[in-house]
Amino acid sequence: MTRASRSVASPRVVCIADLRAIAQRRVPNAVFDYLDGGAEGEITLRENCRVYEDITFRPRHAVAFPACNLRIRVLGFDLALPFVLAPVGYSRLMHPVGEVGAARAAGNAGTAYILSTISGHKLEDVKAASKGPVFYQLYLMGGREAAEASIERARVAGFSALVVTIDTAVSGIRERDYRNGMRELVSGGPFEKIPYLSHILSRPGWLASFLLDGGTPPLHNVVIPGKGPMELIDVAAALAASTVTWSDLTWIRKLWQGPIVVKGILTGDDARRAVDEGAAAISVSNHGGRQLDCVPASLRALPEVVKAVNGQTEILMDGGIRRGTDIVKALCLGARAVLCGRAYAYGLAAAGEAGVNRAIEILRADLDRTLRLVGCPSVTELDRSYVNVPRNWDAD
Ligand SMILES: Cc1cc2nc3c(=O)[nH]c(=O)nc-3n(C[C@H](O)[C@H](O)[C@H](O)COP(=O)(O)O)c2cc1C
Repeated sequence: MTRASRSVASPRVVCIADLRAIAQRRVPNAVFDYLDGGAEGEITLRENCRVYEDITFRPRHAVAFPACNLRIRVLGFDLALPFVLAPVGYSRLMHPVGEVGAARAAGNAGTAYILSTISGHKLEDVKAASKGPVFYQLYLMGGREAAEASIERARVAGFSALVVTIDTAVSGIRERDYRNGMRELVSGGPFEKIPYLSHILSRPGWLASFLLDGGTPPLHNVVIPGKGPMELIDVAAALAASTVTWSDLTWIRKLWQGPIVVKGILTGDDARRAVDEGAAAISVSNHGGRQLDCVPASLRALPEVVKAVNGQTEILMDGGIRRGTDIVKALCLGARAVLCGRAYAYGLAAAGEAGVNRAIEILRADLDRTLRLVGCPSVTELDRSYVNVPRNWDAD
């Protein structure tokens, strides 16, 4: 057992915030802030987490049941937990096991993993690592030819669904990344790097593992015809040059026979459009507050979307999930399941795969305890009768 794995196994690690604190001590601030930070004034980032305070429970006491059911069907897959691991770009910067370790942890827990296009590991290796379903999150970076090749690779490798993210017309400006010299560190020359090196050198454990892993890897799953895998530094420009539009979705649907999830829905109008375009599921999401700042928290946008969709497609949600109570509230408001982003990525940055396992275990224990305390035997039975929702939330 490594020192990092021992640290997350400590009985003093009781919630996701504890994993976040360990991550902050293990990785350099440039990596921590890339993971932790959001766009511009970080208003949406903060609101994503705070908004759960607006919902309170209406527990049913004096009921007992031998076991709680946490199982849920998502896209036809029987998952052991009502949460899946969200796509988190460049997980390999947080720890060398990166996407492979996170996918394995998800599979061992009986849930699904969504691999980001911005992955430092090959999609085939990620799929092979997991016992559970793995979905591929698609950006059109590198153009349609590159996307078509990765869709075909994902099909051959056995990915179960495509997740098309629609909220990245350009990359949001994450101010912490600029202050920490993320660009200079990833691709600058030696002199450009100097002002930012002191903090990297203060994390020798992370630095040693990063260098032994070969430094910054290219994006193995975005292969530019005639050029090879895209470099990390080219991502922002490539995103801006390849906004996903509804007509792209029609094109993607012709290439991919399996289910498609549209991620990045915040309004009833976009939700209905996604249904019309044949989405098997949508994720109500603001990209974890990393894209357009000052949009509503995902949970706050959920009631409008649930009403607009009217049961025509599966509704997922992501943003601000840090506790089992957050997941239960989202399910009460109509999400079938949620995507967790930072909650597991803090674990990854803290201790690799052991940290992801710990994050999943914390959320699983939270869920079991919360269901018993609210007096509901199954996640499939959660509904609005278990929560108080502010009146103006339904005025939309
Ligand atoms: C470091 C980081 C990288 C991310 N990269 C991607 C990505 O490549 N593709 C994507 O669709 N979403 C990406 N997201 C957004 C997540 O999939 C998810 O929407 C968000 O993390 C949910 O908010 P939460 O972190 O508060 O749970 C990223 C999020 C983080 C924190």
